[in-house]
Parts: sequence; structure tokens; C-alpha cells
Amino acid sequence: MKKIKVAIMGLGTVGGGTYDALTRNRDSIRSGYGVDVEVKKILDRSPDVLASRGIDTAFFARTIDEIVSDKEIGIVVETMGGLEPAGSFVLKALSAGKSVVTANKELLAKRFGELNAAAEKGKAGLYFEASCVGGVPVIRTLTESMQANRISEITGIINGTTNYILTRMSEDGLTYEAALEEAQKLGYAEADPTADVEGFDAAYKLSILASLAFHAKVPLSIVYREGITQVRPRDISAAASMGYTVKLLAVGKQNPDGSVQARVHPAFVPNSHPLASVRGAFNAVFLKGDFSDEIMLYGRGAGSYPTASAVVSDVVYCALRSAPLYPDFGKPATAAADFDSQYYISLCVTDKPGMLASVASVLGRHGISISKMQQVGAASGSADVTILTHTTGESSLRAAVAEMASTVGVGKINATVRVIK
Ligand code: HSE
Repeated sequence: MKKIKVAIMGLGTVGGGTYDALTRNRDSIRSGYGVDVEVKKILDRSPDVLASRGIDTAFFARTIDEIVSDKEIGIVVETMGGLEPAGSFVLKALSAGKSVVTANKELLAKRFGELNAAAEKGKAGLYFEASCVGGVPVIRTLTESMQANRISEITGIINGTTNYILTRMSEDGLTYEAALEEAQKLGYAEADPTADVEGFDAAYKLSILASLAFHAKVPLSIVYREGITQVRPRDISAAASMGYTVKLLAVGKQNPDGSVQARVHPAFVPNSHPLASVRGAFNAVFLKGDFSDEIMLYGRGAGSYPTASAVVSDVVYCALRSAPLYPDFGKPATAAADFDSQYYISLCVTDKPGMLASVASVLGRHGISISKMQQVGAASGSADVTILTHTTGESSLRAAVAEMASTVGVGKINATVRVIK
């Protein structure tokens, strides 16, 4: 029977879940996969962290050196999060020839090159199924089940906190603030929710997933990012009245010329699209391959046990194989110059004859055709206008919106939201 000893760095939500899975299911892993995985050390601030979870403090390690100098430890699980000290600890472990399993999307998105080089030099593996979409095995699917395909699209709801907030706003009429407060009480959103609500978390994950899908490193610098803080209840109602649901989407597409679009932003999703029915804190990833056609993976993208499920899968995988099977995504992707979409625009205009015509003529000058246009209410001499465009280029749309904003009688552009098909 193969035996492998593991160290866990960071006994928080995910590290604690990993310890539980490795200990509670040790026998079933042993009998099912022929490998005996034993937790040997746990690094955290104090032995009290272990004691508070009922774990024997004999496992406690105070420093990374206690782990890297332990010749029995073959795999190091990093569940600390953040860039530092997690990054230095991972580099030390890899350089010492220990394979690393990490759930740290920010570290991977920002420093993959450095980590991968250390892994190659140390002849160690670097595994990160848990970094994207928690318990949903999307990385394994991309790397081991899609080889026949050129993947043209990966579109997902890959942040549970924002999907929870948008679901409560859409289905129960909560304001953004009330939905956020509820998400914080339920433990989805952090006290400082910026990483989730401003789309950083989804952007890190998209950078990783798109790199694997398109076999070209998609650096964070080319991932466009817009969060959900500007989404208004009235945009959600306008979407609903036209048969759409508002979601924070991560969209990765590879054009036939090899260039890549990678963007995180709110979008109107048609109610008939499978992603529209992904509710609450659930996540889903929609993939399109030229041979597989459409695939959708669905499940819990966060939380102690779902994320631990992905960590432990990597630990067992690593214990049974010598190296991960990632495609080469060393060469950087070129960012697509433009992309096409339909758009929803909400603006406020002076309520006087000819205003709708002048707004329509700005769009016309930029070659943008209108699918629907509606005046949704007038108060004290001003009116709210909503427009749904036909498909147009993002650059044309931006130019038109900039011109509209300086058109006499246009008060404010309240919202511009991409609409997917
Ligand atoms: N905070 C993330 C989410 C989970 O809400 O989906 C960790 O990436």
C-alpha cells in the first residue's frame, strides 16, 4: 500500500474541512484508491487553533521550516489564502521537492509563472483544483476530459457571494445593501466584501480557467472586470420584464484568430439559458468545445466541505501520479481588440419633444441598431429611457454612450449592461 504524509498550512474554513475529509474518509480513500494519506503536520498561528477544532496539538507546526525539513512529508496543502506569507511558503515547499495542493486563486492568478518554475525546478507537482469553483471539478474536466476539443467558450457564474446577492435582489426585491448584509450574516461575504462584489475573485478564477481552456496564459492584466455594486433594482426589473435574469458572469472566449476575450461583468442572461437558473450561492460553468458541444458543470463553488472535496481530490491524484497533466499554457494570450454583444442602456433625459429621436440618432451614427426602446416614467420634467440594442461592437457602444452623455438633454447614463444570447 502506498503511503503519503501531508502537511496542511492554514486550518481555517478550507484547511479544517480538508483535515476532516482526510481523517474521516481515510479508510475509504485507502480501500478505493490504494493509498494511505496521513496528516502529519498542521501549520497555523497557535496550537490553540488545532485544540479549538478538537485536533491533537502534537500535529502543530509553528514554522514552514518544520514542514520543509520533514523528509516524510510528500504533499503540502496550502489553505492560508492571500499572497503572503502563502506565496513564500509555497515556493519553499516546491523548492524542497514537495508537491503543493493549493486553493489560492489570487496567488495562482498573480504568480503562476514563478510557482510553476519552482515546481519544475524542485521536480514537484503544483495542483489547484480547489482554486476555482470549489467542489465543482472544472479544472480536472478542462485538463483531462476535453483533449479532443478546441474550446471556444467558457462562461460561468463563478462567485457564489454575488450570485446570492443578485438572486435575493431579483427574486425577493431586496436592495443591494440588504442582500449584502444577509450574505455577510450567512458567512458568504467577508466583512470587507470588495474581492467578491467588485469581481476580483471571479477575475482570478477566470484568468486560471481561461488559461487552461485556451492553452495560453490569460494574464490578469487582460481580464476586464466590473462588479455588481452599480446594479440597481430597476435594472433587474427591466431585465425581468424582457425575459432576462441579471448575473455576474465570467466570460472567456477564444476567437478563430487565437485572440482571447476575458471579462467579468454583470450581464442580462436569457431565462432560457442554463446559467439563468443557477440560484443563490451555487456556481456553474458552461463550456463549449468543437467536438463535445455544450457542457455545464454545476455545484457549490465555496464553503468548507465542497472546497475540501477538491483539495483532497488533488491530494489523492498527486499521491498516485508523478506530475500534473496540464497543457502548456506558457505562451501569453493576445487580448481581443473588440467583441460583439447586445446591450441594455438606461438613461435619464429631459422630457421634451425630439429627445428619443436624438438619442436614437446618436446610436444610428455609431452603426448601432435598436431592438427595443421604452420611456419608463417621467417625473419633474425628466424621463427614464431604456434601450435594448441589437448586436454591436463594444467599442462602438462605448463611443455612442460617451457621445450620448454629452448630448444636450441627456441627464445621466444610469447603466450599460451587456446582454448575452
Ligand atoms: N468568495 C468566493 C465566492 C469563494 O463567494 O464564491 C472563494 O473564491
